[in-house]
Amino acid sequence: MGLLIADVIGCITEAFNADKFDKKINLGVGAYRDDKGKPYVLPSVRTAEEKLLHSKLNKEYAGIAGVPQFTKAAALLAYGPNSVPLKEDRIAITQSISGTGALRVGGAFLERFYPGDKKIYVPTPSWANHNAVFKDSGLQVEKYRYYNKDTIGLDFEGVLADIKAAPKGSIFLLHACAHNPTGIDPTEPQWREISNAMKEGGHFAFFDMAYQGFASGDTDKDAFAVRHFINEGHNVALAQSFAKNMGLYGERVGAFSIVCESAEEKKRVDSQLKILVRPMYSNPPVNGARIASEILNDPVLNEQWLAEVKGMADRIITMRALLKKNLEDLGSKHDWSHITSQIGMFAYTGLNPKQMEQLAKEHSVYATKDGRISVAGITTGNVKRLAESIHKVTC
Ligand SMILES: Cc1ncc(COP(=O)(O)O)c(C=O)c1O
Repeated sequence: MGLLIADVIGCITEAFNADKFDKKINLGVGAYRDDKGKPYVLPSVRTAEEKLLHSKLNKEYAGIAGVPQFTKAAALLAYGPNSVPLKEDRIAITQSISGTGALRVGGAFLERFYPGDKKIYVPTPSWANHNAVFKDSGLQVEKYRYYNKDTIGLDFEGVLADIKAAPKGSIFLLHACAHNPTGIDPTEPQWREISNAMKEGGHFAFFDMAYQGFASGDTDKDAFAVRHFINEGHNVALAQSFAKNMGLYGERVGAFSIVCESAEEKKRVDSQLKILVRPMYSNPPVNGARIASEILNDPVLNEQWLAEVKGMADRIITMRALLKKNLEDLGSKHDWSHITSQIGMFAYTGLNPKQMEQLAKEHSVYATKDGRISVAGITTGNVKRLAESIHKVTC
């Protein structure tokens, strides 16, 4: 049996902790770090927490679908103020245990109600947990091509060919932005073609949007794919997470939503979602949802948060550029342009498992064997040594 990704990351952390070298670098963790390499609590989150503390709310249960002010604002953030289905009140939504829980509820919903094959196509590679989440939901997991290792870029022809070859009415899991683990997203024209191909095949899109705002620094830009599909008439499903863009990792804040045909259908879907959620966990936790709700619904706090998300995205983008520059300054003959063309928390370096092992053993740089590094672990203080280490194992 293969190791769980959590175990793999656990092993990396263990090896990192055991390493006595004071300049060791951990690029395995999938959480944002500041330029000192420390976990970061957003100031907007701190302010929201203080406001909540002063309002002395009780700790009663939320409803099965969660905190309504939160889910309403989450839908607005994802679908946008001009969303037609939002205006027509035909988006069913339920709060979830972060992004993973949204995918799990969505998987269970599709398993129970999707009229076609109970199969879901996920990209190769994908976030490692997708496979387990959908399998446990009772869906059969199939793969579609995504990554071209020769170009360290998108296998766009492969994506389109696999969409076209899939049986009519198949379900496709699409990463809305900041594809994990590759950091490679389709361009806007490519998304348009993907949408057309999905429509031709009568396929159903299930978007996983774990990084809205965190990818480009702009929450609207990162929602392009989801909104474009909807404008094109797709009734999509969507998993949202506030782990990364609000840094609410352990608070477990997310939402699952599904665009319905009509307001009447939405009511029925909302009701079925409750029937699904009730025996899973009864109702979701309130604290994180209240924090997110404060931030999304208070105009001043919202503006502050948008600037903070941009700050995190910009730091990541700057670290990508610095890493590339340092490698070039060292005289590396390789083309490192993929480091800056990729987006989001992770970079797929193109390094092979042997080189990754060398990085760990000889340079105390720890990351997964597939060559993925968490850019969030790079700082102005360690980027030079990181570039030197990568250069040494690749030249
Ligand atoms: C692509 C993707 N989807 C979903 C998640 C779910 O994260 P969480 O359950 O913490 O919101 C992650 C987290 O790394 C992710 O990368």
